[in-house]
Amino acid sequence: MVLRSILIADDEESIRHVLVVLLEGRGYQVRAVADGEEALRELQARDYDALVTDVRMPKMDGLQLVRAAQAASPETTIIVMSAYGSHELAIEAMKAGAYDYLGKPFRPDEVLLVLRKAEERERLRLENLRLRREISRARGPGQLIAEAPAMREVMRVVEKVAPTTTTVLIEGESGTGKEVVARALHELSPRAERPFVAVNCGSIPEALIESELFGHAKGAFTNARTAKRGLFEEADGGTLLLDEVGELPLPLQPALLRVLQESEIRRVGDSRVTKVDVRILAATNRDLAQLVQAGRFREDLYYRLNVVGLKLPPLRERAEEIPALSARFLERHGTRSGVAPRRLSQNALELLVRYRWPGNVRELENALERALVLSEEDEIEPEALPAPVLASAEPLPVPSALDPGDFSVKRAQRVLEADLIRRALQQTAGNRTRAAELLELSPRALLYKIREYGLT
Ligand SMILES: Nc1ncnc2c1ncn2[C@@H]1O[C@H](COP(=O)(O)OP(=O)(O)OP(=O)(O)O)[C@@H](O)[C@H]1O
Ligand SMILES: [Mg+2]
Repeated sequence: MVLRSILIADDEESIRHVLVVLLEGRGYQVRAVADGEEALRELQARDYDALVTDVRMPKMDGLQLVRAAQAASPETTIIVMSAYGSHELAIEAMKAGAYDYLGKPFRPDEVLLVLRKAEERERLRLENLRLRREISRARGPGQLIAEAPAMREVMRVVEKVAPTTTTVLIEGESGTGKEVVARALHELSPRAERPFVAVNCGSIPEALIESELFGHAKGAFTNARTAKRGLFEEADGGTLLLDEVGELPLPLQPALLRVLQESEIRRVGDSRVTKVDVRILAATNRDLAQLVQAGRFREDLYYRLNVVGLKLPPLRERAEEIPALSARFLERHGTRSGVAPRRLSQNALELLVRYRWPGNVRELENALERALVLSEEDEIEPEALPAPVLASAEPLPVPSALDPGDFSVKRAQRVLEADLIRRALQQTAGNRTRAAELLELSPRALLYKIREYGLT
């Protein structure tokens, strides 16, 4: 039995009695109360699989109860009962989230039929949830690589909060994987089949952000020839990522805060409000707490977004992930361009691990994509890597060619210069243009110096 415990709310004693006798006789655990307020207290205190409620009741009516019950106990299946003349209220209750309704008066088999249907749906829902969990577990946490302790901790929190509707603020330098983490939160959630919508708050012109987010009514402003749904409505039932949320203009922040608090939006130029069911994620590469300090970001909004905070460490602080990430990217881009699988030579990998990656994972991905195009061998050698990566090779030892008694700065400079040029030529396998880039010399100046020092 999927729906085991049932709460009944009806102000009519005889109806309560009939239902309790009928359902207990069928093995359900039943409890009956006489009004909405009491029902809500019950739902808050105990877990019920189903709520069967009248729509016309004193104190709190069925419609109010349906709304409150959904907030208090979202997993409970709701069935409303309505007598002739209260059908409209019943329809409203269905819109508000009730699963089915029973017309009064009813026969016992009708009650059991409605319950059986609800059980069937619940069974499917649970099965679906289980399968989805299995799939995402088999896939690993999305396409994400998380081996460093700090990243494992991030993924532990991701897996824990993904099934909820909690707002999550994802902070991290540019290219650290904020968007992939946001997608993982969506994919591991029961909303996975619903839309994932990302909006970059920094790239929409300020004048348009409000209508992009909330939509607009027909004729709300010049050019608004038709009404338009906003991104909140697009994401209904799913997840909305507010990317670069630190760029959201201050005057718009109260509107966002209102949506977060009330789950309602109002299209620009429209007086009506619409309910939306959207899970909000926010990402930023700015220090939001500092923006709050500086008065550029509302404190209340900051706290509302930062219910759970995830901080993605820069790649240089998790260099142990570079080999796995590199392999992933070589595979991803290798198969895309249809070339044979490539590996990194030991030297090249060492350089990648040593480099500081100011552009983080994205910079690494780009570097490898480029290396795949540039190198013809099966093994990717250092010369296929971008100049800044090559330049990060070990610091130069003090030239040993100098006589300890020689204090001439000029001579020391020449020795050092010759040494640097030799290394640059080695790193780039004799490619003078690339060596010149590394050395920050013009190719002509390099050629001149090569001759001067007699290098080959
Ligand atoms: N842990 C990871 N495992 C696998 N791929 C990753 C990981 N982190 C990032 N990537 C890849 O790196 C690239 C950049 O990631 P993403 O777009 O999520 O970064 P971001 O933090 O949102 O960057 P920005 O601040 O520039 O928007 C993407 O192609 C993504 O697939
Ligand atoms: Mg991003």
